Amino acid sequence: MLDVRQIPTSQFMLLGYIIKDVHSNECIVVDPPREIGKFIDPDFSIKAVINTHIHPDHTLGNVFFKGKAPILAHETEKNLMLRVFNAGLGTVLTKKMPAPIQFTLSEGEKICLGQTIITVMHTPGHSPGSICLYWPGNLISGDTVFAEGIGRTDIPGGSNVQMKKSLEKIMDLPDDTRIWPGHFYGNKYTALIQECRPLLQYFLKIL
Ligand SMILES: [Fe+2]
Repeated sequence: MLDVRQIPTSQFMLLGYIIKDVHSNECIVVDPPREIGKFIDPDFSIKAVINTHIHPDHTLGNVFFKGKAPILAHETEKNLMLRVFNAGLGTVLTKKMPAPIQFTLSEGEKICLGQTIITVMHTPGHSPGSICLYWPGNLISGDTVFAEGIGRTDIPGGSNVQMKKSLEKIMDLPDDTRIWPGHFYGNKYTALIQECRPLLQYFLKIL
């Protein structure tokens, strides 16, 4: 059984996550904020850090894990121009050299955490290599879907066409799937897919 710890931060209204198997204390950390170190207990076994995409607000805490755990992102997020731009911005924000990211994750890849299997869903649209992480009842949705909206597509690497396909994929998930988004731009920090359906249908029409 997995415990989801959501970490809200005032900087960028980011939501980072520690996903922990309650029996083994094995964890993955998703989109770590700058202050992530305060939330990591010494008895946690960090299997991996996963960036849902590499916009600098989602990678600020990577540096804490340098040399301690693999830091992973989707293979399509490797685009050189975007990588250089994002790493440069990240260095300005953290005043530290960014930790190396391994661009190895792919669509459908399975990550085992205790007895639970987490599936990587490639959901481009906000960025070419944006991903969501799914296991029954839960979706870590990065900047693809928020509790009250969707991620921007009018930025370098964004695509309305890809976002539409990604939203369709997310709408195929069961109604009782809880979305854990990458930001809290509205008043809600989380929502069920069934609550988001009307909004997602609206975006499918206008994109
Ligand atoms: Fe983003």
